[in-house]
Amino acid sequence: MSSNFHKPAPNIPYWTPAQIPPAGTALDQASAPTLFKPIKIRSVELQNRFVVSPMCQYSADDGHVTDWHFGHLSKFAIYGTPLTIIEATSVTPNGRITPEDVGLWKDSQIAGLKRIADFAHSQGQKIGIQLAHAGRKASTVAPWLVPDDCPGVLARPEEGGWGDNVWAPSPIKYTDGFADPKPMTIEDIKTLVQAFKDAARRSVEVGVDVIEIHGAHGYLLTEFLSPLSNKRNDDYGGSFENRTRLLFEIIEAIRSVIPKTMPLFVRISATEWMEWTGEPSWDLEQSIRLAKLLPAAGVDLLDVSSGGNTENAKINVYPYYQVDLAGKIREAIRKDKLNLLIGAVGLITNAEMARSIVQEGKLLSEGATANDGAEVADDSGQITQADIVLVARQYLREPQFNLRVAHELGVDVKWPNQYLKAKWRKGQKI
Ligand SMILES: Cc1cc2nc3c(=O)[nH]c(=O)nc-3n(C[C@H](O)[C@H](O)[C@H](O)COP(=O)(O)O)c2cc1C
Repeated sequence: MSSNFHKPAPNIPYWTPAQIPPAGTALDQASAPTLFKPIKIRSVELQNRFVVSPMCQYSADDGHVTDWHFGHLSKFAIYGTPLTIIEATSVTPNGRITPEDVGLWKDSQIAGLKRIADFAHSQGQKIGIQLAHAGRKASTVAPWLVPDDCPGVLARPEEGGWGDNVWAPSPIKYTDGFADPKPMTIEDIKTLVQAFKDAARRSVEVGVDVIEIHGAHGYLLTEFLSPLSNKRNDDYGGSFENRTRLLFEIIEAIRSVIPKTMPLFVRISATEWMEWTGEPSWDLEQSIRLAKLLPAAGVDLLDVSSGGNTENAKINVYPYYQVDLAGKIREAIRKDKLNLLIGAVGLITNAEMARSIVQEGKLLSEGATANDGAEVADDSGQITQADIVLVARQYLREPQFNLRVAHELGVDVKWPNQYLKAKWRKGQKI
């Protein structure tokens, strides 16, 4: 017999009705496409495959989140996105992109983030945090203050900038409008690894469910990976092993302070789109090589982005331009039977694209058997390209994106209790 009493959401510092099951859960899981089937990563279960991609808001107060961040992030949890990743969060003050970036370099920055995590948990949803250092792209002003024809504008000291203390692997400026970076000493590198470790420990205190290391978009870790921005002659430059060393040291440091049950993600730029130069650059082949080493290091998911390390990239942009990179890495990982999940991101804006990227059990091509381990193309010529989809701008346009996708795919999903009366009727045109 069902009770008329509200069940409270458990382990929350205030009363709020439990969402049972959490919004975004398919009510008939057997018939749901993979996009609305749960996935378990270590101890974290997501009820569908949508993730809100990290998005800087350039709105923090000395690295502390404010009610802006609370409002911005909480709506995704309300509408049933299982995992929302908090924006690039700097592990040191000089690792912020702008003076208004979120940080986690001191304990006073924990409380505001904890309020956001508690709220997501009250809705039965999960929260992640992206730990970052902006490297040579640090100390600029917020993008909406930068004129259209300009790649960036350095924040002056009176605007809170630190252009004289910007780190990079080598003294190579990103482009006009950015700082002249200082090459990091070995001491700086040790400080940085410790800062990632401390921020990870604070993230556990915040109560996050997932940590993502930001190794993409031309920020510090990309700068170390890329032979274009890393010209070092020591253990951190030159060979593939040396250029990836810092990333692995950070992975190890973070793993040492977070629970075994907590998933660890890494975001990379799978290519910096500089193959056209003929010069050595970071490319898909090295990304695949890196991906194969991640499971043994304790990484559960590779979030596949691209670009951001140079102004001279030549990118052929089409809807799947980035998703296809994820698909190629996933194929190589699966071929070697390695245990690494793949996240696809970039230009995912509609139901069919989201569905097809993660759809498992596609038709087998002639001659192949399910035991081959290989996945084969479906009718549209596509293999399964990822295990989850990360979405950024479409969520800014419509925070209920995942609910609309469910409706369009004919999947009946749970809505938040309080919004139930607004649920679209089956077949309703929206
Ligand atoms: C406002 C905004 C802020 C972003 N900030 C971050 C960030 O903090 N970390 C990150 O890795 N990517 C960041 N990105 C990139 C997105 O996470 C995502 O990879 C990119 O926008 C492509 O996805 P989309 O086509 O769904 O927007 C940001 C994008 C936007 C639009």
